[in-house]
Amino acid sequence: SLEEQFLKDFPSYDVEGLVRGEPGGFVLTPQYGEHAEELYNFHVRPDDIWVLSFPKSGTTWTQELVWLIANDCDFEGAKKKLNDRSPFIEKGENHYAHLPSIEKQLELVGNLASPRIIKTHLPLDLLPPQLSETCKVVYVARNPKDVIVSYYFHHQLIKFHYFDGDLQSFAHRFMQDQVFYSPYFGQILSAWERAKTDENVLFLFYEDLKKDLRGGIERVARFLGKSLSEDQLAKLTQHLTFENLSKNSAVNKEEGKTSGSFNENGQFMRKGETGDWEKHFSPELSRQIDEWTESNLRGSDITFVDKI
Ligand code: A3P
Repeated sequence: SLEEQFLKDFPSYDVEGLVRGEPGGFVLTPQYGEHAEELYNFHVRPDDIWVLSFPKSGTTWTQELVWLIANDCDFEGAKKKLNDRSPFIEKGENHYAHLPSIEKQLELVGNLASPRIIKTHLPLDLLPPQLSETCKVVYVARNPKDVIVSYYFHHQLIKFHYFDGDLQSFAHRFMQDQVFYSPYFGQILSAWERAKTDENVLFLFYEDLKKDLRGGIERVARFLGKSLSEDQLAKLTQHLTFENLSKNSAVNKEEGKTSGSFNENGQFMRKGETGDWEKHFSPELSRQIDEWTESNLRGSDITFVDKI
């Protein structure tokens, strides 16, 4: 069965996760393990802008926002696929098939013209230490309940992200740090702390972008030292609404269906809402996630909004 094949290829997935990168014990792919040092020692440029996040937190949205600001609202240039304009640096061609193509991504990023907008889900501690000393980092975080729902549907969409349990078992796996890039709080909290003292790190919340997209764009522009005209600001705000972005074939990743890596039913740009979890969680599951969240946030001053 697919499950047997998967567990054969990823023998430690179920209980111990994949590669546990140190520090932090993050669940990463075997390809990551082979390239961990190269990624840590990756040659950064001072004008790089890195977009960091836990998966399903609004990465794609933020990448498009940052790319357009950094490129002075070049909407023509933005018709090129986002994945090529802003590569996902540690992306293996296919997690399941073990293709060591992180090399290709490293080459792609190495050859990209400045300013580079680089996407990664790796936590700061596993990335080049110069990242926030010389470059700019835009971190985006989303409340854990909506991330769990979005990540669950993502596992159903991506063929090689094998998971055939229900949402409840996915949520439990998530809380036990057994999904790719776990632990969720480990990565967010280190970025949250870093952003407090490091002026090259901007910490955004998905929910703030939802509530006030225009204000979010202005904040990112200020952070990147760019000024936008009223007209550019209005156009960019329109460009980045869920309604428009989900129809934009340069960004919505629908090509995953023709390339065969996505299942036919389902969409990468799924719903784009805050509070969708309410339609999916039982009160008991919601309570368990609240408890888990509370125990992980003890001692931290970060607060998540799970409904706006
Ligand atoms: P949902 O699955 O809840 O719809 P990432 O890019 O980190 O994988 O995050 C994907 C999530 O961001 C998806 O969430 C997707 O719909 C949402 N998203 C993408 N573009 C968005 C936009 N313009 N406005 C709101 N949400 C957006």
